[in-house]
Amino acid sequence: MRLRKGRRQEAGRLPGADECPGAPAATPGLAVELRGVRRRYGRGAGAVHALAGVDLALPRGTFTAVMGPSGSGKSTFLQCAAGLDRPSAGSVRLGGTEITGMSENALTELRRSRLGFVFQAFNLLPSLTVEQNVLLPMRLAGQRQDRGRAAEVLARVGLADKARRRPGELSGGQQQRVAVARALVTAPDVIFADEPTGALDTGTAAEVLGLLRHAVDSLGATVVMVTHDPAAAAWADRVLFLADGAFADHLERGSAERIAARMAALTGRTRAAAGAVAGAGVAA
Ligand SMILES: Nc1ncnc2c1ncn2[C@@H]1O[C@H](COP(=O)(O)OP(=O)(O)O)[C@@H](O)[C@H]1O
Ligand SMILES: [Mg+2]
Repeated sequence: MRLRKGRRQEAGRLPGADECPGAPAATPGLAVELRGVRRRYGRGAGAVHALAGVDLALPRGTFTAVMGPSGSGKSTFLQCAAGLDRPSAGSVRLGGTEITGMSENALTELRRSRLGFVFQAFNLLPSLTVEQNVLLPMRLAGQRQDRGRAAEVLARVGLADKARRRPGELSGGQQQRVAVARALVTAPDVIFADEPTGALDTGTAAEVLGLLRHAVDSLGATVVMVTHDPAAAAWADRVLFLADGAFADHLERGSAERIAARMAALTGRTRAAAGAVAGAGVAA
């Protein structure tokens, strides 16, 4: 792990990462700020450094994709950035709010009222109608369930006529569009998407990605999406590449081809480094 220090230092120079060096106050206009975030699993010799010092600053109204080989820390990153997991060190700010020391209750409240989530498996409640699913974040946050607002976001995702249906009556693509509507309903500071197109065919995936793109461009939403699919990542403004728990590379407005090539290079480097470590007789 130590052998890859050079790449970790590069991560510190990602655009935006050094916009407020050491500043204790939140930087205006940033939706997501991570400073020196580490997440270690286990202790001592067997410890795994799933995140090995991540710095990141994402302005509001941006669409960011996070890619990386299996085991590079994508899930851990998303969980820490979204307040679902606690870093071992470092700080996370969402919409200007420092969440690092927050109580579990306060974090839950913040997630419900100020974050949106879209998961690979849709995660809709099958016994609720589409409208009730969309209103769920408001209900859980103890807010007034604004049916007009639900109708508005359902119209945005092209499902105005499906409000009274149950998720099981809809196609996979339609269910994911409901999940996007649910993520939009509270006008959250950030929408976190974890492989949102992983269970969809290409055409349906493009529809869902188009909705996320549209949310960023026309509603000023901020989207952070983990994906393994270069075609999905190409919808983002910027792709960040994770390797061994640190950001190793990035690409602005890349095509699917360029993103795929960058991923291949990264995976090759990671393999080569692992080989070099093994060859040197040091435990990887
Ligand atoms: N709960 C856990 N306990 C121990 N190790 C874990 C745990 N979760 C993840 N890891 C390890 O952390 C590293 C990063 O995992 P993860 O964030 O799931 O990567 P990715 O999503 O990119 O595949 C991997 O080495 C993984 O084995
Ligand atoms: Mg994962």
